[in-house]
Amino acid sequence: MRRSESLRALVRETVLEPGDLIYPLFICPGEGVRREIGSMPGVFNLSVDEAVREAEEAAKLGLGGLLLFGLPATKDEQGTGAWEENGIVQQGLRALKASAAAKKLVLIGDVCLCEYTSHGHCGVIVEGRDGWDVDNDPTLELLARTAVSQAKAGADVVAPSDMMDGRVATIRRALDTAGCANTPILSYASKFASAFYGPFREAADSAPQFGDRKTYQMDGANLREAMREIDLDLGEGADMILMKPAMPYLDVIRAARERVDVPMGAYQVSGEYSMLQAAFAKGWLDRDRAILESLMGIRRAGADFAVTYFAKNAAMLLA
Ligand code: PBG
Repeated sequence: MRRSESLRALVRETVLEPGDLIYPLFICPGEGVRREIGSMPGVFNLSVDEAVREAEEAAKLGLGGLLLFGLPATKDEQGTGAWEENGIVQQGLRALKASAAAKKLVLIGDVCLCEYTSHGHCGVIVEGRDGWDVDNDPTLELLARTAVSQAKAGADVVAPSDMMDGRVATIRRALDTAGCANTPILSYASKFASAFYGPFREAADSAPQFGDRKTYQMDGANLREAMREIDLDLGEGADMILMKPAMPYLDVIRAARERVDVPMGAYQVSGEYSMLQAAFAKGWLDRDRAILESLMGIRRAGADFAVTYFAKNAAMLLA
């Protein structure tokens, strides 16, 4: 049954379509800015006008949506740039919603503080045992403000990626109170502390200035804990879940698929992208086949959709 492409297509168990792919964008201040990220060839910091152009291309390719990150002009201790009415992601959302083509995409706001805080952590910092600590509960209020301001600026979905306890319930309550009851929450329910986020921290300029994220992101050894995190987020009102990273955690994605029925995405993170790009640059892997195989693996593991920096490339290959 493998002798021809038509026979293989007939018995293929898993499909991959452009609509299953979410494309991350990094929006930065300025105009006409298109700055390539050193460790992520083909990925750019884009000013709002360039982001709209990129989104219109993404829409033409039939992608499922965009995941928006922001690089604010200035950072502070509280990550003010995350929730200000005229924050960079909020500006981007308004501009995308003003474009007939771009607004057809599902616009997802990444809700976190690390791109906006001067210390680069995902929450409020207080003095603690190691000289510092992330203070969970005061952070929730700031995340909720961020989610509400993104929803008001046009986000179709908000996606908290901070890994604070209780954020989904707090965000849900804040959205409902602010008149955004129809905005769904895609929670990064299962997010592991990972070396594979390295290049992202260059892209989003969000490397922690001290310490690491191991006290709030999960230990890579723990699958059962990931299931518990998913149960907690769904109990708090998450509508969809996101699993992250993808390739080193395909077993966790599979376990989640067998446990819950909500829509689930998986994030092929920056390091997964960069290592493939490095191998392509060296001529060590067949680019087109490796891109599609890596994404098919994510779909086969059970994810309904994939967040990937290869979204445009993959959509062109699938066309
Ligand atoms: C923000 C956030 C990160 C990523 C997505 N949202 C960085 C981190 O947690 O360090 C990583 C995405 C990627 O590596 O592509 N908290």
